[in-house]
Amino acid sequence: MKPTNQMKSNSATETMKRGEFLRSLGLSTGALMAFYCMGTGLTACSKSDSNDPTPTPTPTPAAGVTGNADTSKGAISFTVDLTNANYSKLKTSGQYAIIGSLIVAKAKSGSFIALSKTCTHEGFEVKYRAAQDDIYCDNHGSEYSLTGAVDVGPATKPLTQYKTSLSADGNTLTVTA
Ligand code: FES
Repeated sequence: MKPTNQMKSNSATETMKRGEFLRSLGLSTGALMAFYCMGTGLTACSKSDSNDPTPTPTPTPAAGVTGNADTSKGAISFTVDLTNANYSKLKTSGQYAIIGSLIVAKAKSGSFIALSKTCTHEGFEVKYRAAQDDIYCDNHGSEYSLTGAVDVGPATKPLTQYKTSLSADGNTLTVTA
């Protein structure tokens, strides 16, 4: 049904009456806004609803990882079973895996590296680039060395570096803080 002029007029009158009533209580503009927000749902008036990134929970590592690989759950200390199909690629130089909060790679030299996977610029996940033998964030192009130091910005702070050690048989990688 199309609203009649009478209905529109009634609605405008109601709106005016509500505002006038609130103002008659001596409320400031801010208080009035708060009142309206409460009536319409708080999120509708939130200042930060469009700019705050939603934190992504750290994924649980696939089978083959034992221990804590999540920096939000305390000190990093885990082992990776390199015979497990999920991580056996890490036996090959130039390969990497995201494990919990970390990026773990077998560099060109054959050494293992473990760094925070979170770009210090705006928090995107970094990757290992075999061709350059470095760590790269393709969001804005930051580049890090294999120790986590910034080579190219916009990032200014290094990635956190973790210790790695390989078992004598080459099948178990241990990563610690
Ligand atoms: S988030 Fe990594 S370079 Fe901006």
